[in-house]
Amino acid sequence: MMTNKIINLTKEQEACVNYKGGDLLIKGVAGSGKSYVLLRRAVKLYKESNGSASIKIFTFTNALVKYTDELLQDKLGGQYIDVSTIDRFFSNVYKKMTNKWFHVNNDKIKDVVEQTFYDYKKQHRKKHRFYEIDTDYWLEEFKWIQEKCIQSEEEYINTNRKGRGSQVKIISENDKRMVWEIYSLFIQNLKNAKTNTWEGLYLYLNEHLDEIPEQCKVDFVFVDEAQDLTIGKLRALKAITKKTITIAADMAQKIYKTTFTWKEVGIDIQGRASKSLKKTFRSTKQIVLLAEDLAAINRKDVDLKSELTEAVFPDVEGPLPRLFLFDDKIHEEAYLATFSKMLLKEFVNDTVGIICKTKKYFFHIRKLFDSNNIKYQEIFFSTKNPPEWQLLTPGLKLVVAKSSKGLEFDTVLIPDFDEGTHPLIPFNIGDDQVDDHIVTERNLVYVMLTRARQRVIMFCTKNNQSRFVKEFSNNHFLRALF
Ligand SMILES: Nc1ncnc2c1ncn2[C@@H]1O[C@H](COP(=O)(O)OP(=O)(O)O)[C@@H](O)[C@H]1O
Ligand SMILES: [Mg+2]
Repeated sequence: MMTNKIINLTKEQEACVNYKGGDLLIKGVAGSGKSYVLLRRAVKLYKESNGSASIKIFTFTNALVKYTDELLQDKLGGQYIDVSTIDRFFSNVYKKMTNKWFHVNNDKIKDVVEQTFYDYKKQHRKKHRFYEIDTDYWLEEFKWIQEKCIQSEEEYINTNRKGRGSQVKIISENDKRMVWEIYSLFIQNLKNAKTNTWEGLYLYLNEHLDEIPEQCKVDFVFVDEAQDLTIGKLRALKAITKKTITIAADMAQKIYKTTFTWKEVGIDIQGRASKSLKKTFRSTKQIVLLAEDLAAINRKDVDLKSELTEAVFPDVEGPLPRLFLFDDKIHEEAYLATFSKMLLKEFVNDTVGIICKTKKYFFHIRKLFDSNNIKYQEIFFSTKNPPEWQLLTPGLKLVVAKSSKGLEFDTVLIPDFDEGTHPLIPFNIGDDQVDDHIVTERNLVYVMLTRARQRVIMFCTKNNQSRFVKEFSNNHFLRALF
């Protein structure tokens, strides 16, 4: 059950809240209080300024905006602090700068890539091995160029790309020159099609940092879940900061493949300006033990070793996480309905997060619940402001895995914990990218597990268990056959 009691901060947390030295990076494992400390620091700086400071908290998803807002309003009395997603805020900045809205139409962008290659082929040679590579690959490369804020051919040639098939497909300087030519055509074609990529927004802003209007700037900027941000976003955030920026990040929860270093972003968090929180408060010891089985594997082979912290296990104990095994999906889903009803009855004061891997599966489960008359809330993109759902009130909450970051529930239920879903490996991914991809997928499972305060229950098909089940220690969870 969520409680309203005032939390006593640890010494480490206190040091983050009271830090006076300028920009601050708060690192720490899942549930160590990064977000909470961020909010406490925001409220404190506001009060210290006697209400004169402008303060903004940025976070990743609409779900987190709502959740952060609920926490601020209910628990900290911070109604005066604005919470926004980064994209929403900078879309407005763009509007102020250009008098135009920034249009992103994801459905159109792939067509633009295809058009670009069609045009290029017509103007240039008829045959090249690049033409055989699929559209998704090129779109990713083009977005990467924008995400890295690469502005010239020379810069592109000189920037190495780690952990991607580029080494195999784009090899020589001549290759890169050709890619740059195609990329430039792509940008032209985007303009003609009156659309954009989100990465393009930050590329534009980075090319015009001096022109960001004063009225868009904020005294104290706070950024949560920064591990998945891009250079472009972070530089833009730094550019709107008048006094200091405070950033919370955990590289172990990285679920997108962006890369940046604090230095290239221009944020100085050397020495005391970088603080680690180790003790976790959200989950029981049993849940953290299970999640750490996965985190430990990623800590071994990730080159971000220095960024990753080992968890200090919490004192609070709870039931062992459970894995329910079913003969097939029909039985699994029938039991999911029964079990969800049972949870609602048994734990009336609790929140239950049902974490679906994909949007498609989310809609599938929604149908299942509707046809069984099960009450739930969807934590999903909402055009209503504020959205109808609430994260702090009891009940079932359906959520898509990637949108679950930063959230917390008393019970987490993970259906379809099958191989093929966890990890989900896209069919068109290059062989050389698979390892990196699995690291991200493992992080995603770590994120899902650490959303739980008390209980974790996973459902899967008996003969098709996720490979991550094999990475759990056998004494960290219980299996039950159905
Ligand atoms: N010092 C503390 N004592 C008790 N509970 C805490 C403390 N710090 C944070 N919490 C609680 O632990 C949970 C996780 O905190 P949160 O800020 O969401 O972690 P993170 O953002 O690092 O994942 C929240 O429910 C929060 O209220
Ligand atoms: Mg958080």
